[in-house]
Amino acid sequence: MIYADNAASTRLSEHALQKMLPFLRKHYGNPSSLHTPGTFAHTTLQTARQDIADAIGADPSEIFFTSGASESNSWVIQAFASANPDGHIITSSIEHASVLNACHAAQQAGARITYLPVDADGRVSIEHLQNALTPQTKLVSIMTANNEIGTIQPVAHMAEMLHAHHIPFHTDAVQAVGHIPVDVRSAHFDFLSASAHKFHGPKGIGFVYIKKGFTLPPIIFGGKQEYGLRGGTENLPGIVAMAAALHEAVYGLSTESQRLANLVHATWQKLQKSIPDIRFNAQNAPRLPGLLSLTFPSTNGSALANLLNLKDIYISTGSACHAGNTTPSHVLTAIGLPASLAQNTIRISYGRDNTLNDADDIADALIWAYHKIHHIPV
Ligand SMILES: Cc1ncc(COP(=O)(O)O)c(C=O)c1O
Repeated sequence: MIYADNAASTRLSEHALQKMLPFLRKHYGNPSSLHTPGTFAHTTLQTARQDIADAIGADPSEIFFTSGASESNSWVIQAFASANPDGHIITSSIEHASVLNACHAAQQAGARITYLPVDADGRVSIEHLQNALTPQTKLVSIMTANNEIGTIQPVAHMAEMLHAHHIPFHTDAVQAVGHIPVDVRSAHFDFLSASAHKFHGPKGIGFVYIKKGFTLPPIIFGGKQEYGLRGGTENLPGIVAMAAALHEAVYGLSTESQRLANLVHATWQKLQKSIPDIRFNAQNAPRLPGLLSLTFPSTNGSALANLLNLKDIYISTGSACHAGNTTPSHVLTAIGLPASLAQNTIRISYGRDNTLNDADDIADALIWAYHKIHHIPV
C-alpha cells in the first residue's frame, strides 16, 4: 500500500502515540480538579501549551486549543463578523471551505466580503490586497499554503502591510505548520489556525493563536477552560500528542522538506517524459514541498485515482472535501482551469512515510492508468 494523501490527513507518529497513551488510561485526571491527578493534568496541559507556542514563536497565553482548524477558522471569522455586522472582510478565492463558508454566512448577515483573485499559480497579489482595503475593512484572512495546489502565499508581507494600516490579519496555516517555517511574531500574524492531523498528530485537535491584545468572544460557554473562551474539559491526550507531533515535525523540518521535494521531482520527471501535455499546477510559485497537483490531457482525475486505488495506491482528486463532489474545484477554476480540465486533476501529497520507491511506483501506476484509460498499449 502507498498512501500519498497526506494533505488530507497524516498517520499519527509513533512518538506522539507514545506520549498520548498514558493520558488515555493512567493519567485521566481532569485539569480543572484540585487533587494530585488534576494538578498533574493541569501542569501537563500548560507544558503542551508552552511547547506549541515555542514551535511557532508565540507566548503560551496566545495559544487556545480547539477541535481543529475548521473550528479555529470559523471562530475568528464569526467573531469579527458579529462584532462588525456591516463591516468588510477580505479573503481569497482559494480558501478552505471553513473560511469561505464562514465568510458566506457573514455576508448573509450583512457584511461585505471581498474574495481576492489569484494568478495562474494560485498567488494572491499584495497590490490587489492593498487596493481592496477600505476604511470599513475589519479583517483580512489569507491562507499560508493552499491544500489543493500547494501555493505558499506571501503572508508575512501581507501581514506587515496590514499591521501598518492597523487591520488584523488571520492566516489558515493548516498546511504550513510543521511543513514550512512559521513564526507568528516575525510574520506579524494576529491570528493563526492549525490542526494536528496534518502534521502527524491525532484528528479532532488543533489550536488558534490569538495575539496578545486581541480577544474573541467565547466560542463555547462553560467553565474557565481556555481562559474562559472555550468551555469544556480539555482533550488532554490529543493536546499532548499534538505538542509532541509538532515538536517532531518542526525539529526535522528542513531535512524532511528537501526529501519531499525530491519525491515530487522524481514523480514529475517520470510523468513528464511519458505523458505529453501533462500540467504541473502552481509549478512557478513557492509551493509546499510534498504536494503535486497534476492535470492530465483528456483524462478524468477520478478515473485515474480509482485505478490507482485498485492497486492500493491512495491519492486524491483534490482536497478531501471535494472528493465525491462533481462540481469542479473552486481552487482549480480560480487559477484559470476550465471545468473540463479541473476534472482531469489529481493531487499527490507525499509525507513522512513515503520513499523514493513510492514516488517511482506512483509515476509508473499513473502512466499505466493513463494508457489503460486511452486504450493505448504500454
Ligand atoms: C487549508 C485547510 N484549512 C482547514 C482545514 C480543516 O481542518 P480540520 O480538519 O482540522 O477541521 C483543512 C483540512 O482539510 C485544510 O486543508
